[in-house]
Amino acid sequence: MRHLMSPMDFSVEELEELMDVASDIKDHPSKYAHACDGRILATCFYEPSTRTRLSFESAMLRLGGSVLGFASADSSSAAKGESVSDTIRIISGYADICAMRHPKEGAPLVAASKSLIPVINAGDGGHQHPTQTLTDLFTIRSLEGRIANLTIGLCGDLKFGRTVHSLINALVRYPGISFVLISPEELRVPSYIRDDVLKANGVPYTEVERLEDAMPDLDILYMTRVQKERFFNEEDYLRMKGFYILDKEKMELGKKNMLVLHPLPRVNEIAVEVDDDPRAAYFKQAKYGVYIRMALILKLLEESEC
Ligand code: NCD
Repeated sequence: MRHLMSPMDFSVEELEELMDVASDIKDHPSKYAHACDGRILATCFYEPSTRTRLSFESAMLRLGGSVLGFASADSSSAAKGESVSDTIRIISGYADICAMRHPKEGAPLVAASKSLIPVINAGDGGHQHPTQTLTDLFTIRSLEGRIANLTIGLCGDLKFGRTVHSLINALVRYPGISFVLISPEELRVPSYIRDDVLKANGVPYTEVERLEDAMPDLDILYMTRVQKERFFNEEDYLRMKGFYILDKEKMELGKKNMLVLHPLPRVNEIAVEVDDDPRAAYFKQAKYGVYIRMALILKLLEESEC
């Protein structure tokens, strides 16, 4: 049984194949409209979500399949104390594939170990978010034409931001990638990413606090939200939340063909005035998430039948 827990579960070749399929889906959607007729996707979300859950559901519906699931722990038997292991055993009899989001790091992995159907990690606590990374890679490849020789600025909450952790893990395997890590001291990337991923792979990176200093060098600026729900106290969150605000003035410091990405939701870290800048690609990015999730569902279902 093939599951997706981290972007490292796929080789670079597999990622490229997945993106080729996503591109074909984007250009020829009708070819895939019945690819999953009669199949069911379960979305088990123990944490809030708009894009990830709905883009999974949209992906399955666009493949001709059906969806069931729950959107919060309160509306599932988790509220009665049921474990994810028991829940996934039940879901295995109701659906053919499951996307799971959970506030606890590793919960989807526990589910996968008991599951009879493929499980996709749709975000586990502050740990990983592999399908956001697939979305990010597909957006970069589609809009930049390549995933190579790029200077990528990651800005905001690099400590708790799981999208950043997964993206770094995936990108260190591509040639000519360097990172500028832009965060306040308290929200720097965890050492298991800095030492075990960046340093261990000999990938060049710098750490800076001021976004203005980084702007002129970047090919891609990946903004992130301060992860309010993972702070231990409100006061620390309030101090951090306004640290970065990308506005028109700062955009003037960036390259003419720079791309601005954001996994969304945005809170206040990108001013609405930036949305009209042709370099703002975050809404397109959210749409590309459907194509790559369609490709992923197809791949995991195909492999589970072998
Ligand atoms: C991200 C997440 O859930 O980690 N959102 C998403 O899935 N697009 C980013 C965030 O919540 O800040």
